[in-house]
Amino acid sequence: MKGPPWPLGFVSFLLFAIPILGVSVPRRTSNNRKSTIQMIGYSPTKTDDYVAVQMQAEAGYIVGFEPIAHADRVHHMLLYGCEVAYSQEQFWTGMATCGSGPSHILYAWARNAPNLNLPPGVAFNIGHEDSSIKVLVLQIHYAQPFVGNVMDYSGVTLHMNDEQPIFLAAVMLFVAGYPIPPKMQQFQSNMSCKYDHETDMHPFAFRTHTHAMGRVVSGYFKHGNEWTKIGKRNPQWPQLFEKIDHPLKIQKGDMLAATCRFDSSNMTETTPMGHMGTNEMCNFYMMFYWEATKPDPFPYGAVCGGNEQPELFGTEYPKEGFELLPPRPELEHTALQSGRPFGIIEEAKIQKIGDITLGQISGLAFDQQKNLFIFHRGSRVWDGSTFDASNHLQDKKPIAEPTLLMTRFDGNTPVLVEALGGNQFYLPHGVFVDVDGYIYTTDVGAHTVTKWKKNGKKLDLVWRFGEEFVPGSDHGHLCKPTGVTKNGDRIFISDGYCNARVVELTADGKYKAQFGAPGTGEGQFQLPHDLVLSPKKTLLVADRQNGRVQELNMEGLVQSVVSSSLFTNIYSSDSFEDTIFMVPGENSYNRFTQDEIPISVYGSRLGTGLLEFAFSPTSERFGRPHVLRVSPDGNHIFIGDISEKGATLWKFRIQHDSSTESHTLSGATYYEKASAAYGAIKNKASTAPLTLTFFLLLGVVAGGIYVWMKKGRRRANPQNAFDRKGFKRLNQEDTVAFFTSDSESD
Ligand SMILES: *[C@@H]1O[C@H](CO)[C@@H](O)[C@H](O)[C@H]1NC(C)=O
Ligand SMILES: *[C@@H]1O[C@H](CO)[C@@H](O)[C@H](O)[C@H]1NC(C)=O
Repeated sequence: MKGPPWPLGFVSFLLFAIPILGVSVPRRTSNNRKSTIQMIGYSPTKTDDYVAVQMQAEAGYIVGFEPIAHADRVHHMLLYGCEVAYSQEQFWTGMATCGSGPSHILYAWARNAPNLNLPPGVAFNIGHEDSSIKVLVLQIHYAQPFVGNVMDYSGVTLHMNDEQPIFLAAVMLFVAGYPIPPKMQQFQSNMSCKYDHETDMHPFAFRTHTHAMGRVVSGYFKHGNEWTKIGKRNPQWPQLFEKIDHPLKIQKGDMLAATCRFDSSNMTETTPMGHMGTNEMCNFYMMFYWEATKPDPFPYGAVCGGNEQPELFGTEYPKEGFELLPPRPELEHTALQSGRPFGIIEEAKIQKIGDITLGQISGLAFDQQKNLFIFHRGSRVWDGSTFDASNHLQDKKPIAEPTLLMTRFDGNTPVLVEALGGNQFYLPHGVFVDVDGYIYTTDVGAHTVTKWKKNGKKLDLVWRFGEEFVPGSDHGHLCKPTGVTKNGDRIFISDGYCNARVVELTADGKYKAQFGAPGTGEGQFQLPHDLVLSPKKTLLVADRQNGRVQELNMEGLVQSVVSSSLFTNIYSSDSFEDTIFMVPGENSYNRFTQDEIPISVYGSRLGTGLLEFAFSPTSERFGRPHVLRVSPDGNHIFIGDISEKGATLWKFRIQHDSSTESHTLSGATYYEKASAAYGAIKNKASTAPLTLTFFLLLGVVAGGIYVWMKKGRRRANPQNAFDRKGFKRLNQEDTVAFFTSDSESD
């Protein structure tokens, strides 16, 4: 194996990959577009690991945020809008986010919060001449290292357009810096600022934040003599932005006030404010909008960092603002950091099943009883002399030994249930088992696809499509067909090494339709090497030499495409819920540095086209993965490897925290489930009249330098702990051919 040993190779690859990852992938439809900032394939190295990536802010207006992450990998993500990033590098470790100058929080994500869409007409202004947001910095907090070789690509897709919005959005941070004396059941930290700008502010969401000692945080404003609540929340609950469901207006001359209530009865010493877990914080975030035609009241970030009228709290501040909210154990529980680290663990490398030594493993399929069918080539190997120049098989003797092994796993040991297919196959490729137990196979040597009925130890032929040993591209022939799958009565074949098409057959094996053509465009293929049906009932075609997975509907219209600079080929893919898993069969090379990129399995959120994570074995590198299948329960990944060192069946287990639900939740389903989960929490609540429509944060946090205070524009108390370098880590914090050769051997 050339190149440095695996971990070093990957690390050095990462260094070079940085310029091409974590960058924006603009997609335009009229003036609506998406831009994604994502992690570079990072593997956290310690508990509470904070890292950041930056990207230039492309000029536009953000109207929504779409997280590409899952709580079982990521504790929280914060998106900052900065004038200058902390570092010149694309990626850095530590809690730093913005450099000097204005610093705004635009978005925060945790705990599988769903997409956030701003109210109609409201948007964040970034990248323009008149915006102080020139750079976006995504900070990710990983609670714990992953188990196994797992790399993370979590990120946020910004939904943007170029339309000048009616309202511009920002977030005001209220922050107090009083140290907390010990042994007090109730200690109150107060903030108050007079609003002194002509532009009216309309708060529409709020977020509260403290560490472990915070019990309640509230914010109000006073207009004339009347106090109005902006929001109140227990900071031990998930620290999401909570929507304010009635219109509010803050005008010049109004008094803004907020307070944090702490319980320090267990403490023996004074607790200072700061980012460390042992420090405390007192933050109230108010998300607001103003009319875009009016001047921006806080071009450098909005902060209320002082207490102009401390006497208000003893006399006028609504008493309710100090009172504890009724306990909500289910919320307090939800907010706890997950205990079990995310991991993808190598469990087994199988080369023999009973007495049978596996040959090149070309296909894998599960049946309804969770048996795994292993389709292998026994002693036969596909090499340069297997076919002549016109794709005719040279050795027309079938493989004598059983090539289709029906197995059942006992832990990590496969037990042979039935050895099938002796003397029936020439060069096995794909296999699929339908709900009724019929087996479908493709044979690249015979240029056929066959439906079989398992009859005891035998396979009985039901029908066969394609003329045996005669390659062709018309409606009666196939040419080295690769994969086969079924949707209801419709049978789909990826065809294959010499044709670049998907052929549809009727249930009784007659030609019905086809789509696809050779090429690199959407819906075109260069060696469609595998196809499966996704849970959305779309076809996922591993478009091998184009290095991508195309998601198509039954008529061949492209729904989404997953490709990346990380791989130049994809041999196989499968999906579970909303995650597409895909694997290259050969190493790829960085297109700038030509550095080798070792083979990993990549996970992408179905429909987004974006990578979310990757993993590879821990014991040694993959050889030549040919087929990948996910177990029916979604917990295991199997990979058939046709390495010259010996065919290997790899088994991996996905470990995720049970409290974060399934590790993959799909497209629409993902968001439905997330809302349903929050809905359930809400419904379980015994009392609270709060309408907890959790949605996620965005906002603006002042640069810490620009502290808004009415008089004297004093700096904040130096003990003030601004969150600008990231929210502290805290257990309660809220918390995705030109075929070089058409043979499969080198
Ligand atoms: C104080 O500590 C005790 C014992 O560890 C614990 O049960 C209690 O909940 C703590 N109280 C507070 C307010 O943190
Ligand atoms: C905040 O206000 C409350 C109510 O007047 C008061 O008891 C408390 O001491 C104040 N906190 C500080 C730090 O001054």
